[in-house]
Amino acid sequence: MTKAIRIHQNGGPEVLSYDDIDVSAPKDTEIQIRMKAIGLNFIDCYMRSGLYPIANFPSVLGKEGAGIVEAVGKDVSEFKVGQRVCVGIANGCYAELANFDQHHVLALPDEIEFETAAAMMLKGMTAHFLLRRIYKVGPEDTILFHAAAGGVGSIATQWAKSLGTTVIGTVGSKEKAELAKSQGCDYPILYRDENFTEKVREITKGEGVPVVYDSIGAATFEGSIDCLRPMGTMVTFGNATGPVPPFSPALLAQKGSLFITRPTLMNYVAKREDLLWAANDLFDVVKSGAVKIKINQKYDLKDTAQAHRDLEERKTSGSTILIP
Ligand SMILES: NC(=O)c1ccc[n+]([C@@H]2O[C@H](COP(=O)([O-])OP(=O)(O)OC[C@H]3O[C@@H](n4cnc5c(N)ncnc54)[C@H](OP(=O)(O)O)[C@@H]3O)[C@@H](O)[C@H]2O)c1
Repeated sequence: MTKAIRIHQNGGPEVLSYDDIDVSAPKDTEIQIRMKAIGLNFIDCYMRSGLYPIANFPSVLGKEGAGIVEAVGKDVSEFKVGQRVCVGIANGCYAELANFDQHHVLALPDEIEFETAAAMMLKGMTAHFLLRRIYKVGPEDTILFHAAAGGVGSIATQWAKSLGTTVIGTVGSKEKAELAKSQGCDYPILYRDENFTEKVREITKGEGVPVVYDSIGAATFEGSIDCLRPMGTMVTFGNATGPVPPFSPALLAQKGSLFITRPTLMNYVAKREDLLWAANDLFDVVKSGAVKIKINQKYDLKDTAQAHRDLEERKTSGSTILIP
């Protein structure tokens, strides 16, 4: 028997149950990992609540973590027992012990600690596809990144800065504005008090930005569109305030021949070569010190429900990890 956080139905944080479970031996292509640290992500809340449907109950949540290989299936040759590894987009991480298909598992460089890996893999690979693939930011760009002091936002801000980009970031409090600034955000905007669209127009001298990264969803969508310059790119990649309501493509013409995408990390790392590209670029920026991973909250695995409450109530900043 081993411990895991499971849900038996969708609902609020109270449905997260600290259960005893049996973990079977790994199947042929699976790797069994003794988890040392687990990352908390907003997507875990969407899966818990039912916004993103789950096929089977009970289900162990959690997509990000790091640990040591405990056992391998007969067709696994790339990994061996005792090796340090991590996962960034796999199901079932909220556990002391878990099996993952080898496709999702990555060797963890010696320089990167388990807790750091757990705090950065999903969020950092997300920052990678946002900044390096969807729209390649550079020194000539001024970008808008919402929730700049959050998990993805903290990594993306530092990464964009290391590429010479000017970053405008929205934040929910003065403390978060300070944090964002210390991470390289040039213009933190307190979007609960100020009209962020007007501020962005002011900062860019009326021109607008070439790209907006919006994970806030329903509450900011329209304002974000109005921050874009003609032919700008709207990247709507999350729903912290609920999904964006349907709209007509004609809106994109009216607002200046805009581009829009609703990406998910899963598609961007579906091929093993793409997963390795994202992970290796992330390892490089962390090892070089260009991106520092801030673990601002740490909970015991059994207290995952509290961690979910704090994340959804906007009490967290940077990364949050769970310790089994
Ligand atoms: N598409 C993808 O593949 C992908 C991958 C990873 C993450 N994401 C998305 O990226 C976003 C960030 O993820 P994360 O795990 O790093 O979370 P996070 O940014 O650490 O937390 C979410 C932040 O959103 C802001 N927020 C604004 N309104 C909110 C509300 N009504 N309720 C809760 N939060 C609100 C809060 O920051 P302030 O207080 O500063 O406003 C909060 O801290 C999430 O929406 C997530 O779903 C998408």
